[in-house]
Amino acid sequence: MPDPILSLQNATIQFGGLVAVDNVTFDINPGELFGLIGPNGAGKTTCFNLVTGVYKPTSGNILFKGKVINGIPPHKVAKLGIARTFQNIRLFGALSVLDNVVIGGFLRNQTNIFASMAYLPGAIRETERLRDQAMALLEVMDLADEANGRASDLPYGKQRRLEIARAMATQPDLLLLDEPAAGMNPQESEDLMNTVRKLRDDFGKTVLLIEHDMKFVMNLCERIVVLDHGEEIARGVPVEIRSHPEVIKAYLGEAC
Ligand SMILES: Nc1ncnc2c1ncn2[C@@H]1O[C@H](COP(=O)(O)OP(=O)(O)OP(=O)(O)O)[C@@H](O)[C@H]1O
Ligand SMILES: [Mg+2]
Repeated sequence: MPDPILSLQNATIQFGGLVAVDNVTFDINPGELFGLIGPNGAGKTTCFNLVTGVYKPTSGNILFKGKVINGIPPHKVAKLGIARTFQNIRLFGALSVLDNVVIGGFLRNQTNIFASMAYLPGAIRETERLRDQAMALLEVMDLADEANGRASDLPYGKQRRLEIARAMATQPDLLLLDEPAAGMNPQESEDLMNTVRKLRDDFGKTVLLIEHDMKFVMNLCERIVVLDHGEEIARGVPVEIRSHPEVIKAYLGEAC
C-alpha cells in the first residue's frame, strides 16, 4: 500500500456550539478518485476548508504527504500541491477565460503578476510560457474555443470547467472539487465525469470531490466517505454506499 497523500486524523472543528466536523478520519491514496458526500450542512465544504488552511482544526490533524499541515495559510497550502474549486464559483469575471487560467499558473512560478504587468523581460517570457500552459489546459477542459471570451459570459457549466482549469494551472498533486457538477445537465455532467477521470488517468492527479449528483459520484469515485451532522456515517465502495441503511436514512431525512 502506498503512503496516503492526504490524511484526516480525528479532524474536528467547532463554531460556537456547533461541531461542524466531528472526529473525521480518512486516508486518500495517491491517484484515487475519492468522494465525500452527505446531506446539506453535513460538513463537507468545511472539510475542504480544513484541508486548504481556511480553518485550523479545533483538534485532530490534517496530513499532506505525511506532514502535518494544520494552520498553514491557504496560499502556502496551494504551493504544497493542493488546489480546489469552490461550491460558489469564484472566477475573475471581467478577465478572459485564458487569463483566469494564467493567473493560476503564477502561483508556481518565479515571476509574479506584478513583474509581468511591469513588462520585465524575464517575466514576459515566463508569462508566455504560462499562456501556453493555460491554453493546453483549456484544450483538456474543452474550453479552447472560448479562450478569448470573458469568463462571466460563459454558461454556468463551462464556468465550472474553467475553475478546474485554473486549479490545474497551479500544478497540484491533489485536486479538491466542491460540487463540480452542480447546475449541469445530464450530458454536461457525464462529459465532466470523463474529464475528471482523464485528470487522474492522464495527468496523475488525486481527486477528492464533493457532489450531490449521485450518478456522478457512484460512477466516478472508487471510495466514498459519507458525513452527516459533521460525523462519518458510512464508508466504502459505491455499491456499498448505495444500499447503506444509514446513508439512505440521512438522505431521506433531507428530502422530508
Ligand atoms: N464559518 C462558519 N461559522 C459558523 N458555522 C459554520 C461556518 N462554516 C460552516 N458552518 C456550519 O457548519 C455546518 C457544515 O457546513 P458545510 O458548509 O461544511 O456543509 P456542506 O456539507 O458543505 O453542505 P452543502 O451540501 O449544503 O454545501 C453548517 O451547519 C454550517 O452552517
Ligand atoms: Mg458545501
